[in-house]
Formats: sequence, C-alpha cells, structure tokens
Amino acid sequence: MSEPDGITVDQGLVLDTRAFDAAMFDLDGVVTRTATLHAATWRKLFDAFLRRRAETKGEAFRPFDVERDYRTYVDGKPRHEGIRSFLASRGVTLPEGQPDDRADRETVFGLGARKNQMFRQALGRSGVEVFESSLELIRRLREAGLKTAAVTSSKNAAAVIEAAGLADLFDACVDGVEAERQGLNGKPAPDTFVYAARLLGVDAKRAIGVEDAIAGVEAIRAAGYGLVVGVDRAGQAAVLRQHGASLVVRDLGELRIVPAAPAAPMGLPAAPSAAPEWLLVEEGFTLTREHELESIFAIGNGHLGSRGSLAEGSGMSSPATFVAGAFDAQPGATPGLAILPDWAKLSMTIEGRPLRLDTGRTLRHRRMLDMRQGILWREWRHEDAAGRITRLRGLRLASQADRRLLIQSVAVAPENYSATASLDVPLDEMATRRLGDGGVIALAAASAIGEIGDRSAASGRPPRPPMVLELALGKTYRLDRVVAVCTSREQDQPEVAARSRAGRAINTGLSALITAHREAWRVRWEASDIGIDGDPAAQRALRFAVYHLLSAVDPDDDRVSIGARALTGAAYGGHVFWDTEIFMLPFYVLTWPEAARALLTYRHRTLPAARDKAAHHGERGAFYAWESADTGQDVTPPFVVAPNGEVIPILLADQEQHISADVAYGVWTYWRATRDEGFLLDVGAEILLETARFWAGRAKLESDGLRHIRGVVGPDEYHETVDDDAYTNGMAQWNLETGNAVARLLVERWPERWRVLSESLAMDAAEPLAWSAAARELYTGFDVRTGLFEQFQGYFGLEEIDLAAFEPRNAPIDVLLGRERIRQSKTIKQPDVVMLLHLLWDRFPPEVREANFRYYEPRCAHGSSLSPAIHAAVAARLGDVRLAERYFRQASDIDLGDNMGNAAAGVHAAALGGLWQAAVFGFAGLRFTEEGPEHQPNLPPQWRGVSLRFKWRGKDHELKLPDDRARIGAAPGIAP
Ligand code: BGC
Repeated sequence: MSEPDGITVDQGLVLDTRAFDAAMFDLDGVVTRTATLHAATWRKLFDAFLRRRAETKGEAFRPFDVERDYRTYVDGKPRHEGIRSFLASRGVTLPEGQPDDRADRETVFGLGARKNQMFRQALGRSGVEVFESSLELIRRLREAGLKTAAVTSSKNAAAVIEAAGLADLFDACVDGVEAERQGLNGKPAPDTFVYAARLLGVDAKRAIGVEDAIAGVEAIRAAGYGLVVGVDRAGQAAVLRQHGASLVVRDLGELRIVPAAPAAPMGLPAAPSAAPEWLLVEEGFTLTREHELESIFAIGNGHLGSRGSLAEGSGMSSPATFVAGAFDAQPGATPGLAILPDWAKLSMTIEGRPLRLDTGRTLRHRRMLDMRQGILWREWRHEDAAGRITRLRGLRLASQADRRLLIQSVAVAPENYSATASLDVPLDEMATRRLGDGGVIALAAASAIGEIGDRSAASGRPPRPPMVLELALGKTYRLDRVVAVCTSREQDQPEVAARSRAGRAINTGLSALITAHREAWRVRWEASDIGIDGDPAAQRALRFAVYHLLSAVDPDDDRVSIGARALTGAAYGGHVFWDTEIFMLPFYVLTWPEAARALLTYRHRTLPAARDKAAHHGERGAFYAWESADTGQDVTPPFVVAPNGEVIPILLADQEQHISADVAYGVWTYWRATRDEGFLLDVGAEILLETARFWAGRAKLESDGLRHIRGVVGPDEYHETVDDDAYTNGMAQWNLETGNAVARLLVERWPERWRVLSESLAMDAAEPLAWSAAARELYTGFDVRTGLFEQFQGYFGLEEIDLAAFEPRNAPIDVLLGRERIRQSKTIKQPDVVMLLHLLWDRFPPEVREANFRYYEPRCAHGSSLSPAIHAAVAARLGDVRLAERYFRQASDIDLGDNMGNAAAGVHAAALGGLWQAAVFGFAGLRFTEEGPEHQPNLPPQWRGVSLRFKWRGKDHELKLPDDRARIGAAPGIAP
C-alpha cells in the first residue's frame, strides 16, 4: 500500500500537518474510553429485552454478542438507528413510538430512553477515562494551527466532554443532539462530518477524520475527507480499511506530526526545520539571559565556533568566535583561545535611528537553534519611535561542509514606510588577528545584497560601509555574507587564501552552500542521533548534547582537541582536560570514530610535552598536562585570585596525575570498539606504554611491601595533596596492566612494530612484565570487611557534613563553608570512587558497586558540572531509576537551565558527553563484551522507547528499546 497524502512512514508514521486545516474526532473509543461502557450498557439493555421476549414467545434466548452484534449493528450509529438495525438482525420490529417516550415503553424510542438512562447511571458510577495519547495528539494538532471538532452520535457528548475536562480541546462539537436539531442523518451517512467541516470553515479535502467504528469510517470517507484514520482497538484493522480507512493505528500515539513551518521565510536561502523537537526556541528578549543564550545558541563545526550573540549587539553581548587550536600566548599569561573579530556584527539605522532591541518597540522577537540543520535563526519585528515597522529574518551557521566558512543571511522588509537605511558591517573585507607567537588568522568577507525577486542585483561586492539602501514599501531586501577564515598554521598567506575562498563561496551562492552544509549535518545525525520516545524534555536535552558534541570536532584536524567549553565560550581559555577522553570520547568512539581518532592523535602529538613533564617530575614515561593547549605543555594557571583578594595556588598541574591514565583509557576505549590496527600501531600503543611507564615509577614500593602514590589530587578537587587516591590508584593499576597487555599483543602479532617501538623507547621486554607485578602491589584502599574503597588515606576519619541540610543551595558548598572546612570533611566535589566504578564496572562485584555508590553519593556536593551525569549513569546501572532520573535532569539543566550559573562562559562539553553516557550506558544499559554489544536497560517509566545507532568493530548496529516493541512505522495498518 502506498501512503496516503500527508503521511510519510520513513521515520515512523509522520503526519504532515501542512496538508490539513482541521481534524475531527469521534469520542467513544477514540478520545474517551466510553466505548466499553456503551457496549456493556447495550448488552444489559438488549439481553433484558431479548430474554423477556424469548420467555413470552417461548423461544430460545440468544444473548446480545458484544463482539459481533455491537460492532456490526450498533457501534458508531445514532442510538435509535442502532436499535433498529440490531433488532432487524434478529427479525424483530418494534413500533417507533414518540421521541419523548418514557424508558419503560416497548418502542424504539422507549428503548433508546432506557439505554440513555442506564448509560448515565454507569457514567456517574465509573466516570470517564480518556486516552492520553489521543489528547496529546489533539493538543499538538492545535499547536500546529489545525482546528478540531468532536463528531459523535452520542447524545451524551456534552456530559462526557464536561466529565472528562475536554472542553478546551475542541472548537466545535457535533453530537447526536445537534444532528437532530440540524436534521442530519447519522453515521454511516456523511452528514455530520460534512456539517463539522462547514462549521469550522474548512474544505473537507483538507480535513482529517478519526474513527474507531466501521460506520464512522464510512461516514468520513463519504464526506470526502482528505485523510481517514481508523483506530483499531479490537483487532479489526482489515475491516476498517475495507470500509474506507486510509490508515489504521492501534493507538493515536503512533502518529507523529510535522507542524506547519514557514517556507524559506522572507526569501532567505533556507527554512527552519519543521519538527519542534529539533528546535530550541527563545521568544522575546531578556537582557540578563543574553550571556548564557549566546553559549547555548553557539554554532560550530569543530574548526570554527561562534557564540550566538545578537548581530547589532546589546548591553550584555559578549560575541566571540574561535578557531580550534589558535591560542594566543601573551608573555607571562597562560595561553587562551584567541577571540576573533565579530564577523557577524551588523547594525542598521533607518533615517538615522538605530534598529536595536533596547530602542523603539519590539513587536516580535524569536531566536531558534535548529539543531537538525546546524542553523541559528532569528525573527524580529521592530517599531521605531517614528512608528516605522521593520521586519527582519536572519540565519547564521558555521559550515559543516567547508569548515573554513561562516555564513550569514539577513532579510529586511519595511512594513509601513519607505526610507533610507544604512547598514554597517564592520568586518567589511578583511580582518586579521595576530597571535602572540606570530601566527596570523585572516578573516575575509564577501557579500551580496539585493532585492528579493531581483537576483541580478544580488551579486557583486557592496559599496564600502556603511552601505546605503533605499528601502521601498512592499519590497524585501537580503544581505548574504560569507566569511572565510584561514590561518598561518595552514597557509603561507592566509589573507590571500581567505580572500579567494570567500570570493569563490559567494559566487557559489548561499543556497548551494547551505544545501551542502545541511547534507553534512544530515549524515552526522543519521549516525549519531538518539531518539527518546515518551519524554520530550530528555529528548531535547540529548539532542542538545549531541548537537554541541557534533559541533565540537573536526575529524580532519588531529592537532587539536576539545576544550572544556568546546568553541562556545572563553572559560578555561579553551584548554583541554580529561573531560575529552573520559566524558566525551565514548560518544565519538561509538558514533563518529574518525573524530575520536583525531582527538586521540592530538594526545600522540603532545606526547613529547608529556614526556618532558614526567622528566621534570623526575619520572620516565608520559605525564600529560592537566590543562593542555596547542603543544601539550601544561598550561594550568598557577594560581587564582579569590573574590576576597586571596591568592590561591593551583596545585592541579602537579597533582591531578590521573590525567595520564585517563588519556590511556581513551586510547583503549577506541581500540576496543574499532580494532583500528593502524591506530594502535602508530598512535595508541605508544601512549599506553608511556603512561604505564610513568605509573611504574610513580607508584613507589614502600616498607609495607605495597606501592603507594602519594601527594595527588583525585577527581575530587576539594582534597589536595592526598595519598593513595582511590580513583588515581585504581586507574593507574588498570594502566599498568593494560600497558603490559598491549606490549604482549605487539610482541605476538606485530613483532616488527614492537622491535622499532621498544627500541625508540629504550624499553626491554622485561619492563612491561614488571608493570603487571607493580599493579598487583599497588595499594587500593579497599576494605574487604565493608566492601568500601577509602577515597584516600585518612578520608574515613574526616568530619561528616550533612549536605541535605544545606538544600536548596544557591552557592557551591566550598564557598558556603570555606575551603578549609571542606578539606577537613568528607564532602567531595565530584565522583572519585564512583567514577572508578563507572569506568571499570566489570572489575567490581555488584555488592561492591552498590556499597560504594550508597556511601559516596550522599557525600557528593556536585561542585563540578561533570558530576550529576555520572551519578545518573551509575544509579541507572544499579537499577535505581528514580535517583538516576533526578541526576539526569540535573545534568540536563546545567546549560539549558543554567543551574550552575556559569553557562555564560560556554556550554559544558563534558557534562553533555556525560548526559549521553547516562542515557546510553545508564538507562539503555548498552555494554560490550568480547562477544559484542549487549544491553541491560533500566528505562525511566515514561521512556516508551529508545533508539540509537552505533558502530562496533566495523559494523553498524541499531539499538531499539524495548526489544519486543514492533519497530515504529511497522505497526499494523501501515505498510511502508
Ligand atoms: C572539574 C574538573 C574538570 C574541569 C574542566 C573542574 O571544575 O573539577 O574535573 O576537568 O572543571 O571541566
């Protein structure tokens, strides 16, 4: 069967609301569950009647069959028609009687009155149940601009609608009472549906009718509706189809809708995605939210990233555009990502009056991050003090198809005036940004301006700024801009390169550039999307996470990695932390391995700096930078100045040593999932060997016969200079074992590579073997009696602080209680032992995982954005779905709800990666063994389904939960 118009089935059953203006719903069995109540009432009525008749006539009593008789003769029809047709089927004719016959009369009307009385009594007893999924669909259709009506034969519709609280859901109700009043024939006659369409003022061809009864389906078909939806709750799909249903669903929840979307607004070269679940919408303008919105609405392609600042600026705008890896090192300061000139800046004045949100009147203002297409949209209607109304629409993107391009298009229409406007675009042709190390970044802009519909004018370079534009009433003008960004890292003459690239691009035209960009995003989403059915907020948060993760990497550039805030804000100077390998990398490994490989290759390129750092600490091997920039040298700032002026030294560069094991863990994660031999031989093995070697020296054998790692900071940064941090030791132990394992693998499978590598590292065959022994001797802090790991030596003796007593908290706990008090307490910043559980899950028996999580979870203050998602993942894996959900929401709100108050400085990329892990490894329970992928889901109750694709060892996999659910789109009645 081919799909009816307005329906597509490729991604589930999708109804395109653009094809319709109204939808009419039968009530019983479609919206309300009164059908069973009706059927039961009919049975009681007819059985009493038939029994009496059988007795008086001396015939055998044949009861009313709810299955057959109800559906064939009664269901969906007006009451009296149902009585007549059922009785006729039994060869009984009753006198018609009078419409006001009382319930005890043996006439058609008498029986009808009796039925009604019995039904109302039953309704009063049991109330009205509704189908939530139907209500949801009606709401969504109304949001999409469709009108809705109830069309029912029932004379009790008003009472039912009232009892079920549905009055707001319908623009009109055509019920049995109204039908009688208008002299309309009941279903299966088309009259009531024809009448409903007329009542709503819509063309029947643009109306949808929804029915569960055969008579109803026939009526809608006969009324000429554009779409006839049959709801089959009783296994009669084929019959409904025979009688005219264009499609049949078991439940209306199976229908998804595409709401009406404007076609390319005001002649812009593209249109926003129609489906609301792909859009992040900000209506109006709230000055104080501007900073965090600029982060949330950032666009990026892994090479370039740009905050979503307002083009004309505002009192709170901090625009910033970054190039991955372009750090600016001023003498004496730690290097930070260079901030480029504001390429998207554009201001306009009409007859000398600036068009700004803080002047005149904003009639409409809306921004939308279109996550599916990687486009930031803006709509704005503005009225100036002179009453001139101007309409603007704009889009902005960082091309995923050509990562050196930034694109902007703005359409302007004077609504009630003609006037002279001047457009100021500060970045006119060329701007350069010189870096401390002599590097150059060149930005070249090329523009085209013209009147919509007059494309000949939309070419060529505009006059020098400010451009003057004669705006004529009734016309729309569009400015297209392409900014090419080239750096001296890649080109000898970046200015020349940028100029020719921008020129070529503007000649290609924005439509073609955007088509290529959208296609690149489509490919990425196809590989990386995660679908959550039944929880729109979780769906949105995960799409948001994936959007920013996909915006953060350029798989073709292996000299850079992702900063803590990706390319969306200046926090941490764009420095790279363990955030990449431990929080974000699993997403890339499983959905975009090329990106994962590039990120890890960056760590290989920075291996020389890591060796130097180890040497500086008197160790061999690789000690990676806690904060890393372009060269891999440690760029952690040596101190911070607290708000009270106190200078606080930062010990993390020296002490947060777990970073070396984290990088090694990332390498192993990638190797395990891809079996990319080229990577292992050229990149991965060397990192694993050099990090293991570092730990072998760092874990010193002491008089107790054990090795200890003293003077470190674990992930919990509230406690510095501790001995034997559980996470550090646990990961070091893993790193030592894995270093040995990889050496064995090379010796056996690639002896030649081992020979070359071991020679260059001056590593004899005995050295890795000794790592294995060292791993066994490493102190772990595990207490067999309690099953607990002590987070570090002496931790169990510290002060207990009841964190619950500080809720709700509006400042970090270390600020509330002071650093010193926190240091002396068991309060931790983020998971440490729990982090170890998360990473090395299979190493610990279930009771150890449980005991440690229950012990440490209440002691964690979540002072880091990295914390809640990992708690969500671990709680879900332990089966505590409620707690996991709470943490999942907390993690979702770090950027979207700005619940840590610092989203202004960029999105929290690690938290986004963590959120993905919480959904995939936590709720969906995806895990891997040597046999391949497995899953042990623990889904939140409202998650009706999860779907995601991933790659494992060269094969594409698709996970759809729950397992036993028919694939969306393959439900009966819909033949793809
Ligand atoms: C966290 C670190 C993290 C860093 C960058 C800190 O607050 O404690 O674990 O690597 O932020 O995100």
